[in-house]
Amino acid sequence: PVLVVDFGAQYAQLIARRVREASVYSEIVPHTITAAEVAEKKPAGIVLSGGPSSVYEPGSPTLDPGILELGVPVLGICYGFQVMAQQLGGEVANTGLREYGATEVTLAPGDSSLLGGQPGQQTAWMSHGDSVSKAPEGFEVLASSDSTPVAAFASDERRMYGVQWHPEVKHSEYGQRVIENFLHTAAGIPADWNSANVIEEQVARIREQVGTGRVICGLSGGVDSAVAAAIVHKAVGDQLVCIFVDHGLLRQDERRQVEEDYVASTGVRLVTVDARDQFLDALAGVTDPEQKRKIIGREFIRSFENAAEALVLEAQGEGEQIKFLVQGTLYPDVVESGGGTGTANIKSHHNVGGLPEDLQFELVEPLRTLFKDEVRAIGRELGLPEMIVSRQPFPGPGLGIRIVGEVTRDRLDLLRSADAIARAELTAAGLDGEIWQCPVVLLADVRSVGVQGDGRTYGHPIVLRPVSSEDAMTADWTRLPYDVLARISNRITNEVPGVNRVVLDVTSKPPGTIEWE
Ligand code: XMP
Repeated sequence: PVLVVDFGAQYAQLIARRVREASVYSEIVPHTITAAEVAEKKPAGIVLSGGPSSVYEPGSPTLDPGILELGVPVLGICYGFQVMAQQLGGEVANTGLREYGATEVTLAPGDSSLLGGQPGQQTAWMSHGDSVSKAPEGFEVLASSDSTPVAAFASDERRMYGVQWHPEVKHSEYGQRVIENFLHTAAGIPADWNSANVIEEQVARIREQVGTGRVICGLSGGVDSAVAAAIVHKAVGDQLVCIFVDHGLLRQDERRQVEEDYVASTGVRLVTVDARDQFLDALAGVTDPEQKRKIIGREFIRSFENAAEALVLEAQGEGEQIKFLVQGTLYPDVVESGGGTGTANIKSHHNVGGLPEDLQFELVEPLRTLFKDEVRAIGRELGLPEMIVSRQPFPGPGLGIRIVGEVTRDRLDLLRSADAIARAELTAAGLDGEIWQCPVVLLADVRSVGVQGDGRTYGHPIVLRPVSSEDAMTADWTRLPYDVLARISNRITNEVPGVNRVVLDVTSKPPGTIEWE
């Protein structure tokens, strides 16, 4: 692999993704990794990420100097570039000249393996206070900017390279080219990592792990569990049984999609648990969002356990226990949970693809090394329908956390109709790719006066919450075309009884979260 050394902030994940976009497998490692641990991983290359610190600050993250002696090609980025300069005998100075944002960079004349094939003047994204003031001995200066004499350096002999700017950021015009040049030209790493061989590798791994054992998987209808189950099915066929819990909080057509489209395209064996009454009874009278989330999580685990138990009973007839549980865990979850610093618990997320921890299963996690867009690519490669593969995120607790107020059957029906209209119109307008998701929320405890036909109405508002986002950590409200908004509003107020107003949520995240509860 190519190791991406994480010096903090969120740059490392982005770099790891860009490396993979260049068809090279990458892994993120903490900056505390030792040279011996690095050597053990036999990396083809190392990228040192940027970070929020200054190399002068006491306690700022450091790097085991032995790592730069391993003879592995290295690319340092921003903070990583400065750490490299410092350790190799160059100089880093606090010039007092901060560069932030789009910056003009001038390349030194001549072609280099790192910056070859690029224009001599280009825009690059910078974010730094300190600067490298002198390149290490034997290193060539490849670029400069107004306030940074050494904006990039290289030593082809030592196969070590660095840039002050952030090539992983889209605002850096030739950023991806820098990364590709480093990987393919400077480090000589072939571009041979793709969905087809990820599938092949995972299939082999799963067969080895599972043997002839039986496996279960909780399907949520979302992309992750769907793709995870499809890979496992490809590996072990009918040793896999999927369990789909219908908690009554699904959107229109969702259950049918899983039961028909998914099964038809994969051939998996699916057991649907109809737990609608169980969930709605448990939610009766509850209005507090956190309490709703906890109840839904608990009931989900219960129904999953019951279904699993039924399968175990059935299996014991054949003399075989179920030992394995498939989880659609993604790489960011792995990195974040190994990342140490705990983030505040804003909402207790309950991923309905998730597991009851006290069930004594061994986990099968075929997506553990992958990012979301890679999971989608693999889903396509496995022949899953586009409806499932390109599905926008939908929270595990479903419509239960999109009714502000008590969740009842009538309110769910109403919200389902409004949501179906909004989704259909957004799709018809070709806007699905532009938005991250568009929660449709029912303000069940709010009523307002309206007039419809000749009569006064006293109905509920529906909130549209279209958002754009890269990773759901931050989001902005999407500026949808007025005519699309008008059509959605018209149709909802005309077609959904009990709704006489449609409002638009124009709040970014932060301060709002994407969902209302
Ligand atoms: P928030 O509301 O925290 O949502 O800004 C961020 C993203 O996470 C989704 N979400 C959930 N997904 N289980 C899930 O699987 C949950 O409990 C849950 N709550 C929120 C939300 O739809 C958005 O994409």
